[in-house]
Amino acid sequence: MPSVYIETYGCQMNLADTELMRGQLARSGYTTAADPAVADVILLNTCAIREHAEERIFGRLGSLVRHKLARPHVQIGLAGCMAQHFRDRLLTSAPLDFVVGPDAYRRLPALLGGDPFVDVRLDGVETYADLAPDRAAGVRAWITIMRGCDKFCTFCIVPYVRGRERSLPLGAVLEQVRDAVAQGYREVVFLGQTVNAYRDGDTDFGDLLRATDRVDGVARLRFTSPHPSDMRDSAIDAMATCASVCPQLHLPVQSGATPVLQRMQRGYTSDEYLRLVERLRAAVPGLALSTDIIVGFPGESEQDFEATLELMRTVRFDNAFMFQYSRRDHTKAAKWDETVSEAEKGCRLQAVIALQESIAAEINAALVGGEIDVLVEGPARRRDGWLAGKTPQFKTAVFPSAGASPGDIVRVRVTDSTAHTLIAAAL
Ligand code: 5AD
Ligand code: SF4
Repeated sequence: MPSVYIETYGCQMNLADTELMRGQLARSGYTTAADPAVADVILLNTCAIREHAEERIFGRLGSLVRHKLARPHVQIGLAGCMAQHFRDRLLTSAPLDFVVGPDAYRRLPALLGGDPFVDVRLDGVETYADLAPDRAAGVRAWITIMRGCDKFCTFCIVPYVRGRERSLPLGAVLEQVRDAVAQGYREVVFLGQTVNAYRDGDTDFGDLLRATDRVDGVARLRFTSPHPSDMRDSAIDAMATCASVCPQLHLPVQSGATPVLQRMQRGYTSDEYLRLVERLRAAVPGLALSTDIIVGFPGESEQDFEATLELMRTVRFDNAFMFQYSRRDHTKAAKWDETVSEAEKGCRLQAVIALQESIAAEINAALVGGEIDVLVEGPARRRDGWLAGKTPQFKTAVFPSAGASPGDIVRVRVTDSTAHTLIAAAL
C-alpha cells in the first residue's frame, strides 16, 4: 500500500485539515508514514499568515527534495494556505508534483498517482461535513464547524486563501461530536476562522454551544477563534450557562488604538472591545482571556503603540500571541507605505512580550495555594514521573503522577507557577 507523510504548519485549523486529509487518504488505501524517508507521498500542509511562515516552509521543502532524488517515484506536494497563495508560481518555481488548496482535499486521493497537478479552486460551499477525519490520539478532538472568512481585515491574507464563510449543518457537527465522544475524546474544540460567525438557518453559535452541551460525555467544550464583532448575547449566555463550556476565550484584539483598529477594519473601537470584555467577565466568573496583537501596522504611531500597552494593562490577558506586522500580497494594507521600521517593530514586539510575561506571571502566581481541575493529557515534558494537562482556563498544569491516566480529570493544589505553567501537587 502507498504511504503518505504529512507535516503541518500554522494554526489549529490546519491540524484539523491534516486529520481530514489523512482520513480521506486512508479510505483510498494510503497508510501513514512517520518518516519522509520511507513515504511515497510527502505533503506539507502550509501556512501563509506571515512571511516568516512561508520562508520556513520553502526551506523545509528544499531539504525534503532529496527524498525525491533518492527515490524518483516519490510525489511531493503542498496543501493549505500557501498552496493557494502561490498557486500559479509553485509548479514552475519549486520541485513540486502537486498543489492542493484548502477546498480541494476531497479530490486529493483521486489526483495522486497521476501527472503533476494544481487544484486550487475555491469552492464557496465545501465544508467536508461528510468526511470523517482520522483524529490524532489524545484527549482533545478538534472539529472545524465553519470555514473561510468574510471580514477582510486589511492586514490579513485569510479571506483570499480560504475563501468565503460557510458553516457545517448543525446535524453534521453534532454527529462529529458524538463520534469524538464515542472514540473516547473528553474535550471538544470547535474551530473556525471566525468561529462565532457560525450559522445554520436559525441556529447561531450560541445555539450550537447549547446543543453540544446536551450531548452526553462532552466533559469540556472550547472554541477558537471568535471575532469580537460576532460575540453576541446568545453566545455569551451559552458560555455562562452551559456546564461543559470552559471559562476561557481567545479574543483577538490586534491593537489598543482605535485609529489603528479602524485602518485594520476590525469593526470595533478600543472602548467597544473593553466593554465586551466587561460583559464577558460579568457573565463568566473566572474567565481566562487570551488575545492576538500586531505591532508595527502601517501608520501605528508611538502614541498608538502606547494605547496597545495600556489596553493590555487594563484587560490583563492570561496569554497573548504577539506578532510584528508582515505585509501580505492581495491585502489592502499591502498597498500602504510601511511607516514603522523593522528595528522599531522589533523593539515594540519586545515591549509587548515583556509586559505580557509580567502580567501572566502575576496572574498565575495569584493561583498558588488554590485548587484546580486538570484534564490529564500525558507525561510532563521535562519532569520524569510527572503528568501534564490543562485547567478549564486552558493553562498548562504539571503534577507528580499518583496513578492518574490521560483523560482523567484530577483535582490538584497549585504549589508554584511561572508565566506559562502551574506546578501542582495531587490532593
Ligand atoms: N502580519 C502580522 N500578523 C498577522 N496576523 C494575521 N495577519 C498578519 C499579518 N499580516 C495575526 C493576527 C491574527 C493571527 C492569527 O495572526 O494577529 O489574529
Ligand atoms: Fe483574518 Fe480578520 Fe478574517 Fe481573522 S477576521 S481571518 S484576522 S480577515
